[in-house]
Amino acid sequence: MTPFLKEVLQTVANNVITVIVFAIALLLSSRWYRHRNLPPGPWGLPFIGIIPFVGTHLHKTMITWSKKYGDVFSFYLGPNLSLAIHGYENIKEAFVKHGDHFSGRELMFMVKDTRGKYTGVLINQDKAWQQHRRFLERIFRELGVAKSTWESNIHDELNHFLAEITSKNGEAFDIHQLLNMSVANVTNKIILGDRFEYSDESFQRHVKMIDDIMNNWQLSVFFNMYPWTRLLPGDPTNYFTLKKCEHSRQYDVIQPMIDKRKTECEKNGRKNDKDIIGYYLNALEEKDKLVKYSTFEMLQLRCIIDDLFFAGTETTSTTMRWALLYMIKYPHIQEKVRQEIFDNIGKGRLPSLNDRESLPYTEAVLLEIQRYNSIVPLAVPHQTTADVTFKGYHIPKGVLVYPNLWALHRDPTLWKNPNIFDPLRFLDENGHVVKPPHFMPFSIGKRICAGEVLAKSEMFLYFSTMMQRFNFTFPNGRTTPSMEGVLGITLCPEPFKLCATRI
Ligand code: HEM
Repeated sequence: MTPFLKEVLQTVANNVITVIVFAIALLLSSRWYRHRNLPPGPWGLPFIGIIPFVGTHLHKTMITWSKKYGDVFSFYLGPNLSLAIHGYENIKEAFVKHGDHFSGRELMFMVKDTRGKYTGVLINQDKAWQQHRRFLERIFRELGVAKSTWESNIHDELNHFLAEITSKNGEAFDIHQLLNMSVANVTNKIILGDRFEYSDESFQRHVKMIDDIMNNWQLSVFFNMYPWTRLLPGDPTNYFTLKKCEHSRQYDVIQPMIDKRKTECEKNGRKNDKDIIGYYLNALEEKDKLVKYSTFEMLQLRCIIDDLFFAGTETTSTTMRWALLYMIKYPHIQEKVRQEIFDNIGKGRLPSLNDRESLPYTEAVLLEIQRYNSIVPLAVPHQTTADVTFKGYHIPKGVLVYPNLWALHRDPTLWKNPNIFDPLRFLDENGHVVKPPHFMPFSIGKRICAGEVLAKSEMFLYFSTMMQRFNFTFPNGRTTPSMEGVLGITLCPEPFKLCATRI
């Protein structure tokens, strides 16, 4: 090698080293800048963060960490810088006082992959989210889902549901899929003004798919965090299975619903359509007249419907499964609920939303079920939409935020004997229902559950009706399954069978 060439190579090598050192320094300093004054938190491993240490119940592991690092701590869940928030005042401060900065959502890989730019309401965070959220709130109000005017729709569905349970003749069965289908039918009524038969195979598949997506969430976290893992042989992250489910729900179930309803609406002149598809089609016609720069589009409608099934079916049905488990575990509470119903309503007619006030114990049992097993223990993670100062820390934009609702509902400084199942905690000395502000199964702030009102109506009517009509027990020789629950997106009971004896 000539001395000249050697000198050139030496200079290049020096420069490459300088560039690499500079790039690393830049990376470290930008990482330092992003992490300056973050709350402390558990150390994770490079690239995967705390994933190996989360255990089966992240919400419980977080309580252990909060004892070491404080109510607000940071950590890496995979590549995502995240924040856990414990305590009523802290959650309120983040989601209400700093609601403008703490109410974003991460646009997950699967959502981008299956929906493109149309992202509905659950995962969206921009103007389309605002407009569609307002739209849903308005429709729920106009339909009157919390009022007795709409309850006949739930009653119709309940009659099918009761007939199906009666047909089991007191034999042991798993109520899971039936509950899911029945609750999904209430959502169907809102969406397209109609219901599906439980024997309809495509409806059965649709409801089962929602369940599968919810329950396989843990695995899907991997390809959402590391999209390259979907390419590993053998589909270890379930990417292709879930994508197929999502695709099939969107194109084989939801789109045909829209098409059918659209044809009907066009035939009827559209104006009197009291369901979401009808309202949306009207809104599309008047686009930009009603809302300036409207984000309403046909493909958004599919996403909204998808979100409503996803957010509204399994949550309500899971709460009802927990309710049945607790009533079987504590037969004296089941009996007391039934007696209250008999004393105030009798056996003849179905309970109505107007009966709520005269059934405070029944209401208190429902509230205790929601407190004891916060079924969405960490809500749906939020994301910061800008750099924000919170509790004296610097929280950068794009951090995922987990409010620990499960911990809140078991906080011994807020609840007496929080680990004891005791509905009486929700009744005052005059027997009236009291709900403390730190009871928030639907979360709080701008992202509070959009279907809260509907969920409350559904839960009251399903629960009180089941208690009025049947005595629930475990099959002979079976004991209560573990009450720890299995964590997907929701905290579900382990599978169980029950016997329902007609009263
Ligand atoms: C017992 C039943 C239910 C529970 C416990 C529940 C709970 C929740 C929670 C905790 C969130 C996340 C809040 C947050 O991110 O801070 C949420 C979001 C949501 N829920 Fe529910 N929910 C239930 C039923 C329903 C029903 C019946 C519907 C509608 C059919 C519904 C529609 C939604 C929607 C659309 C969102 C997203 C709101 C947004 O991101 O702006 N939920 N729910």
